[in-house]
Amino acid sequence: MLRALAMASVALGPQAAGWARTMASHQLLVAPPEALRKPLSIPNRLLLGPGPANLAPRVLAAGGLQVIGHMHKEMYQIMDEIKQGIQYVFQTRNPLTLAISGSGHCALEAALFNLLEPGDSFLVGVNGIWGQRAADIGERIGARVHMMVKDPGGHHTLREVEEGLAQHKPVLLFLTQGESSSGVLQPLNGYGELCHRYKCLLLVDSVASLGAVPIYMDQQGIDILYSGSQKVLNAPPGTSLLSFSDKAKNKIYTRKTKPFSFYLDIKWLASFWGCDDQPRMYHHTTPITGLYSLRESLALIAEQGLEDSWRQHRETMAYLHGRLQGLGLRLFVKDPALRLPTITTVAVPAGYNWRDITNYVMDHFDIEITGGLGPSMGKVLRIGLMGCNATRENVDRVIEALREALQRCPRNKL
Ligand SMILES: Cc1ncc(COP(=O)(O)O)c(C=O)c1O
Repeated sequence: MLRALAMASVALGPQAAGWARTMASHQLLVAPPEALRKPLSIPNRLLLGPGPANLAPRVLAAGGLQVIGHMHKEMYQIMDEIKQGIQYVFQTRNPLTLAISGSGHCALEAALFNLLEPGDSFLVGVNGIWGQRAADIGERIGARVHMMVKDPGGHHTLREVEEGLAQHKPVLLFLTQGESSSGVLQPLNGYGELCHRYKCLLLVDSVASLGAVPIYMDQQGIDILYSGSQKVLNAPPGTSLLSFSDKAKNKIYTRKTKPFSFYLDIKWLASFWGCDDQPRMYHHTTPITGLYSLRESLALIAEQGLEDSWRQHRETMAYLHGRLQGLGLRLFVKDPALRLPTITTVAVPAGYNWRDITNYVMDHFDIEITGGLGPSMGKVLRIGLMGCNATRENVDRVIEALREALQRCPRNKL
């Protein structure tokens, strides 16, 4: 074979002979990057921003395991266990429950791409950045988007939502349980029932709240619920959790048009995740090690128990709030009942630049805290306590860092 190739290339001339030796038809334009010759180096940081949080050790170990095939029976078993874990943390019996190969945004797009058709009326509660994002995606789909806008720090009351439902007759309402940009906890009791009275489905974002505050998908009448892996679950970013009620499933399965996204088409995903009685069909190659990690993070919270996790976050938040107030700082969300335990927003203290403070804490203590996001930008500092990071010891560490930052950072004397 080789001899035949060599003889053929001699017959074809010197250029073809080179090709036969190296199989290359062109010279390389780009050399191997120098930077990749150095070993990978990751600093040791305490992540007390709005996410991601540090990985739990057991989750970290799972991410280092060898890959198996995404369609091997052992992988299907892991996917089934993930589904059961999601049903537990969401408190739902929905068969159409699965993980999405993508971050929280991907779960939001999966929900909206499948539920909305062009021309559908879509009501969006905006009290920070996540409602803005949902509205943006709704517009891209061609839905008629109606925003109920609150200042950052506000939430949507049942009365306001009812007005919106009556006026716009939407097929879908979007609310964020944990508005991570403003630190607000949106109450959810009664909203599902209200939506259903107006023949509307309820979609809730619990990316920043799941595992830290109660949520009862079935009992609260939430039709679509999604969350992320990288916050209270202490898993790596890149997978998300999603579930649909029978009502939501019915809307999807009676669509007149195909969803724009193939990657996020729920009918395909339902089949691949074994949510229907059909044989599983290949759809895409899942992030296998990300799913191992997600499985372990769900196992950890199942072992701890949801009620205990809610208690842990509530108590650690109270401790943090007391210590922040002890430093003379003011909490941004006025009503204590509306404060999100995972992400505390602190009004930027007068005379300081928020960036000086977050940079100081990072540079001198290797702790991440952040400024605001979207509508809360420039107004707040955000401190996150999520999952295994939600400890009194971590509160003490960040308070020490903040105390020093407030002493050392420049303060204008206006
Ligand atoms: C409440 C909320 N929703 C959605 C998202 C988006 O998630 P991701 O960044 O994983 O896409 C975030 C991320 O911080 C969030 O806090």
